[in-house]
Amino acid sequence: MYRVASIGGDGIGPEILVEGRKVLDAAGERFGFDIQWDEYDLGAERYLADGTLLTEDDLKEIGKHKAIYFGSIGDPRVQPGVLEKGILLALRFYFDQYVNLRPIKLLPGVSTPLAGKGPEDIDFVVVRENTEDFYVGLGGRVKGPGISRQELVLARELYNVKFGLDIESDADEIAYQVGVVSKQGSRRVISYAFDMAERRNKKLASVDKANVLSDVYGLWREVFTSVGADHPSVATEFMFVDAVTMWFVKNPEWFDVVVTPNMFGDIITDLGAMIQGGLGLAPGGNINPVGTSMFEPIHGSAPKYKGQNRANPIATIWAGSLLLDHLGEQEAAAAVVSAIATSITDGVVTKDMSGSTGTSGVGDHIAALVRDGNQ
Ligand code: NAD
Ligand code: IPM
Ligand code: MN
Repeated sequence: MYRVASIGGDGIGPEILVEGRKVLDAAGERFGFDIQWDEYDLGAERYLADGTLLTEDDLKEIGKHKAIYFGSIGDPRVQPGVLEKGILLALRFYFDQYVNLRPIKLLPGVSTPLAGKGPEDIDFVVVRENTEDFYVGLGGRVKGPGISRQELVLARELYNVKFGLDIESDADEIAYQVGVVSKQGSRRVISYAFDMAERRNKKLASVDKANVLSDVYGLWREVFTSVGADHPSVATEFMFVDAVTMWFVKNPEWFDVVVTPNMFGDIITDLGAMIQGGLGLAPGGNINPVGTSMFEPIHGSAPKYKGQNRANPIATIWAGSLLLDHLGEQEAAAAVVSAIATSITDGVVTKDMSGSTGTSGVGDHIAALVRDGNQ
């Protein structure tokens, strides 16, 4: 018996998570395990009712689980960032889920906007650092005329630029956000990526912007080079993130494993999602190899589709496969992905994939395929 924490969240989150659980339960029936789902009502409803986001008690309870299955978070009634940072990022940081694993794989029968590219060309994994960079939450805003010379000097020193700031004027204001990259934080995620490349096609690209943000990503590159020395069988390359947005589109077949700091990882994986057929298809895992990991679609709460039975549940179901893999149920995990692929070739898909089946119909179909094992 596995106990998994279940957090539906906001918007389409709860309805897609129901489908994911349905499929994982079916996998349990077929492969002989049970999952007990422990539900947590984190999200906008609770926040609007009592002002709580994530309590110490929640964390203590959720922390008893090896895995969390997560829908999505974000609600138009709440200021952007409150729920996203107060719940989703808080969970990733609290449980030190330093690897954000985002496979980019085009399944047969899915259309990609990339002309002339097929499933054999689009099959790689982005390993996104998940606890550092510009996500650490260090920053602030300073307004004139109260801004002190000290703050100004500090800001200038930090950024080595001259602000056109008139500190005597109350119309003037600066905002700053600090990115942090540590040796230890980089080493652990880069090592994870090298290990993964060794198990795959032995190619690893580091994606950064060391030509401009040379302190943070300079350190990142040094660590990459030093970890690489222990993995001589892996062919490595440094790439700049701006160029990578072009290469993902032009030559996706070049990529095997990509390792990248947090913010660039966020951005390039939405691009990756599009080339594998859209946000409704892209799964992710937030992994702490020795603690509590969390599995979720990489898309958000798509509030406009809430309650309409039209959201695509595949990204969430696929994230469920990553969850099973994490629990050590490799066979069940593979069966889930192959059932997703069959559902697609059967044409049982939602509107975003030009189908006419609803969210629950797709979940039912994939669950039945997994249960019967005849894909
Ligand atoms: P989004 O990913 O929610 O949606 C963008 C668009 O993608 C949607 O309008 C829809 O057209 C499409 N889409 C996404 N998921 C789909 C699905 N399963 N099926 C069909 N179509 C789908 O991004 P957004 O609109 O920028 O953000 C909405 C809210 O979600 C915001 O509050 C944002 O902060 C939050 N968000 C949360 C997460 C998360 O929980 N992991 C991730 C990204 C955004
Ligand atoms: C994602 C999301 C989150 C991120 C937001 C909602 C905090 O965009 O999971 O990709 O930036 O990591
Ligand atoms: Mn994102």
